[in-house]
Amino acid sequence: MFETSESYDSGLPMKPETARRILDEVDYEFERKAPPEWYPDVPRIPAARYSDPDFFALEQQAFRKCWFTVGTVHELPEVGSYKLVDRWNGAAIFVVRGEDNEIRGFWNACAHRGGPVLTGEDGHCGVEQRLQCAIHSWTYGLDGKLVGLPGRRDFHENLDRNAAGLPAVRCEVWRGFIFVNLDLDAPDLIDWLGPVADEATWFDGLRSVGSSSFVLNCNWKLAIEANIEVYHVTTVHPDTVALTIDYRGSAEELYQRGHSRMIVPDKDYDSQKTRKAAEDDPVFALMRNSNVSYLMFPNHLTPGGARADGTVSMTLQSFWPISPNQTLSEWSVMVPDWGEGPPPEKSSAVVDGYTRIMHEDTGYLEHVQKAIESGAIKGLLTSYHERRVYHHEASIDRMIGVEHVPEHLRVQQILPVVDEN
Ligand code: FES
Ligand SMILES: [Fe+2]
Repeated sequence: MFETSESYDSGLPMKPETARRILDEVDYEFERKAPPEWYPDVPRIPAARYSDPDFFALEQQAFRKCWFTVGTVHELPEVGSYKLVDRWNGAAIFVVRGEDNEIRGFWNACAHRGGPVLTGEDGHCGVEQRLQCAIHSWTYGLDGKLVGLPGRRDFHENLDRNAAGLPAVRCEVWRGFIFVNLDLDAPDLIDWLGPVADEATWFDGLRSVGSSSFVLNCNWKLAIEANIEVYHVTTVHPDTVALTIDYRGSAEELYQRGHSRMIVPDKDYDSQKTRKAAEDDPVFALMRNSNVSYLMFPNHLTPGGARADGTVSMTLQSFWPISPNQTLSEWSVMVPDWGEGPPPEKSSAVVDGYTRIMHEDTGYLEHVQKAIESGAIKGLLTSYHERRVYHHEASIDRMIGVEHVPEHLRVQQILPVVDEN
């Protein structure tokens, strides 16, 4: 299992020296004629990792130990506001704002015999601020404590009401994003995110202007890994993304616990101009002249950047496994909180534009899935530029526990990651 780190101060913005170092890396990437000498000749990724049901089951177990974001605090504006989330191929969980304003997470599973205490996707618990099971009306407070037990006389006197609360999941809020973890013994979120929490401070206050989703007929890793390299951009997005970024300058960083970062310079990137701007504000200069994206392991991507008015925007993409060859892909376009009232105009146009790009990104994945399932392709090759893909796969093995991964499916733990200490 991964070690935790206390060396990151998540209260600081991305450090100016980090932004300057990234600008150096972008220049290096544009100039290089081959992979750097330190880069190993990585083997192919065994294709069966994307189709084998037993490996899928191992991944599902690993998913129960990871942190996932399920939305932002804006979606739970009042005491009693809740959101149901069913993304783990099992009973749903929900997050709810308590009377003390804390946001907590629970399984939607009554402590009596497992009935649902919530049925709508999201909403409000009502004026009584109670959660009531649909089967025998056991009732819980917003903190999950059992407060109403009809027919108490029929239960044995040993029944401990204090031990019969709703089963909890871990829930933490970071920069307005609500995260949950099904593992009560998981490391704290801030330790899990590590350098992502340190750098991605611009996520603060972002709020969704719109979202969309579709189900893909491919493995979840094919879906996310199609989006963590930009080698494909000139072929797959000739009329959209390729007009805005230049993949040759992309600078990537691999972090512990499976996270990674990719900075892709704009199409008309001018190193001298960006460096000049960086003398005043390196972080803004970087974000204004490139697309900055994190992979928050295992299944969230956050491509974004700074806009001309100095604000930032970001698209949160999530890929949820349904079966070895089915994936729920969902995305939310996020902008700074606009306060009261409806979202800013043009929000639907922004979401539609992103939907087009998502269709471009995923249009060929069913083909790839079939190529894998038919045995036409035994292994997937990744270049230096595509090293986030290999890192993602290696991190999944570490999360499962390398010793539990059948030898013929393992990937090697050979890529160096940033040392946090
Ligand atoms: S299952 Fe919930 S009250 Fe019986
Ligand atoms: Fe793409």
